[in-house]
Amino acid sequence: MQINFVKSEVPDEGSLAIGVTENEELTGLLQELDKTSKGAVERALKASRFTGAKGQVVEILAPAGLDLDRLLVVGLGKAEDFKSERAESLGSQAVARLLTSGEKTVTLLLQLPKDVDEAEALARVAQGASLRGYRFDHYRTTQKKTDKPTLAKVNIGASDVAEAKKAWRAAEAVTKAVVFARDLVTEPPNVLYPEEFAKRARKLEDLGVDVEVLGEKEMAKLGMNAILGVGQGSERETQLLIMQWKGARDRNAQPVAFVGKGVTFDTGGISIKPAAGMDAMKYDMGGAAAVTGLMHALAGRKAKVNAIGICGLVENMPDGNAQRPGDVVKSMSGQTIEILNTDAEGRLVLADALWYCQNRFKPKFMVDLATLTGAIRIALGLDIAGLFSNNDELAARLLAAGKAEGEELWRMPMGERYDKLIDSPIADMKNIGGQFGGSITAAQFIQRFVNKLPWAHLDIAGTAWAEEARNSTPKGATGFGIRLLNRFVADHYEA
Ligand code: BES
Ligand code: MN
Ligand code: ZN
Repeated sequence: MQINFVKSEVPDEGSLAIGVTENEELTGLLQELDKTSKGAVERALKASRFTGAKGQVVEILAPAGLDLDRLLVVGLGKAEDFKSERAESLGSQAVARLLTSGEKTVTLLLQLPKDVDEAEALARVAQGASLRGYRFDHYRTTQKKTDKPTLAKVNIGASDVAEAKKAWRAAEAVTKAVVFARDLVTEPPNVLYPEEFAKRARKLEDLGVDVEVLGEKEMAKLGMNAILGVGQGSERETQLLIMQWKGARDRNAQPVAFVGKGVTFDTGGISIKPAAGMDAMKYDMGGAAAVTGLMHALAGRKAKVNAIGICGLVENMPDGNAQRPGDVVKSMSGQTIEILNTDAEGRLVLADALWYCQNRFKPKFMVDLATLTGAIRIALGLDIAGLFSNNDELAARLLAAGKAEGEELWRMPMGERYDKLIDSPIADMKNIGGQFGGSITAAQFIQRFVNKLPWAHLDIAGTAWAEEARNSTPKGATGFGIRLLNRFVADHYEA
């Protein structure tokens, strides 16, 4: 799908979508179109009880008097609440309706309230359009004609085309990174195993990212027995992926760091999961995909920051060599862990990855992302990710960035009363905490591998995969976390 910015005017071919805020009567462009169509537009809007409220869309086919296949009117909510993020739905709604409709070209016109930065809003329109148009068709050998995408061109009207293009440049880099991450998450687990993930991450070298990959031998030398134990039952080699983007003026300035859980398939291991729905566990590398996507975004838009991305890549399988419930392993930190459930493997991956990260890079802070617990899905549902942190400022910044990007977080409690639930009778800790507060005891476990530095953990088990299309995300892999963290970096850590 091609995105163009054009002079703002009503086209004489294809379809037109207009974004409008809530209003009693027709204004501006809508009023003009209504005149040309001799009142047909107003009648259609009235007949569908359109007010311009957020989420409303009216689709008028072959509107009288206009050379258009369709006129879409998209409600953007109250003018006084309008922020540039609202604009995104003009792009996403139009593409959702038109992608496989037979239409080839759509023009998007945004009727903006006063005092809104047009370029920024239009970049969001473009981002909504491209992200909602995401498809993954690599493995289809046949497809019905009517299921194939037809929409090829999205023209976005601007009063200042050059400014809009400039704003899109940065947003486009982020959009490409989200697409890259969604592809990683969607790939089947027989194709995307740890070495293949690492190989694909090497593509980031083209953007100027330094990429290193450690294999099992090197990890064993470092004492990373927590993550290695998880991969012990797999034929595939466990990998540690280390990415560095040095975009700050001072290449030696203290970096920010992001760590991802990359379990390319989670069977549960010997504590095996039930058969129904196990295929979903291909997305148990969603945290690692988000971290890799974030590095892609930062490098793609040449962010003025030094950033580290580390991913623990491993497959959790049961076999004759697999780790057993009851095993005790010594992590890289020296702390010992009693493995009571081999399905609580994500925290074991993060334990060594976080320890390695803070010791080698001495970052300002670490943020980890992981599809860590089913319990966070029960607690928060599938639209909001859990935020756990030892630092109020870091937490507040992440919450704000999430709101602005439509990738919301909710802060969860932590503390001593939860921490003691993972004490083990025979080792320093056990890897499960019992029936209650499962997402919190998982976070407490991870925190034991973080020294004094500021740290936040995002449990994205509910948000990494969408059960149905919503806003700028089609059904499937979301890429959740990339936009949020990109903004978080842009707003606070670029010199
Ligand atoms: N990968 C799962 C968590 C998960 C569940 C992610 C559903 C996405 C959707 C994780 O490794 C896991 O199995 N967690 C266990 C922990 C339990 C054994 C303490 C869980 O949540 O049941
Ligand atoms: Mn598991
Ligand atoms: Zn898992």
